[in-house]
Amino acid sequence: MSADFMPVIETNRTILRQLVPADAGELFAYASDEAVAKYTTWQPHQTVDDARQFIQRALERYAQNIHADWGIIEKATDRLIGTCGFVHVHPHRRAEIGYALGRTHWNQGLMSEVVKSVILYGFKTLQLHRIEARADVRNVGSWRVMEKCNMTFEGVLRGHLFAKNEFHDVRMYSILVSELDDP
Ligand SMILES: CC(C)(COP(=O)(O)OP(=O)(O)OC[C@H]1O[C@@H](n2cnc3c(N)ncnc32)[C@H](O)[C@@H]1OP(=O)(O)O)[C@@H](O)C(=O)NCCC(=O)NCCS
Repeated sequence: MSADFMPVIETNRTILRQLVPADAGELFAYASDEAVAKYTTWQPHQTVDDARQFIQRALERYAQNIHADWGIIEKATDRLIGTCGFVHVHPHRRAEIGYALGRTHWNQGLMSEVVKSVILYGFKTLQLHRIEARADVRNVGSWRVMEKCNMTFEGVLRGHLFAKNEFHDVRMYSILVSELDDP
């Protein structure tokens, strides 16, 4: 892994850093919540081993300089409260963002704060041209995050995602580097 790959990012209330095996307990605490996993592609974690495997997959990607989630650490408590990162970074200088947050932290503007910083990193450091995000049409909280991050709604992709034995319609959002407030 190169030294500058996925550096620590600081936001007002959080620190984003690479996941480590010791995060498994705190990750399991929120990823086992059915409400958190309701619109995600992954199932709620059944045991802490599911969280360990999730972290292991991230570690394998970090080791190959492939983007994965940062852990979101709440400064006030020094605890892992969620994850956010680039799911795919395409050679065409575009990438997709994904995220999840423990339920007790919802609706406090936290993920919007985190996603804004990850978008800035993607444009300024990774030199991306376009950053996109998708959310199930029913996942209002998620597409509100995209709107609060100045992303543009591009339309509904019908039957775009197959997860949990069903096809789902998803809303597609994106932001271009030229649309940054602070280019
Ligand atoms: C989606 C998620 C990351 C949002 O994180 P968050 O920190 O609560 O987001 P924010 O507080 O920054 O913004 C959420 C916005 O949605 C609004 N919102 C949430 N649920 C809503 C609902 N059912 N109807 C209308 N607005 C809603 C909130 O009021 C807030 O908007 P506001 O600040 O204008 O009031 C979080 O709910 C989560 O982790 N969910 C489970 C995992 C998930 O679905 N991940 C995304 C997969 S695409």
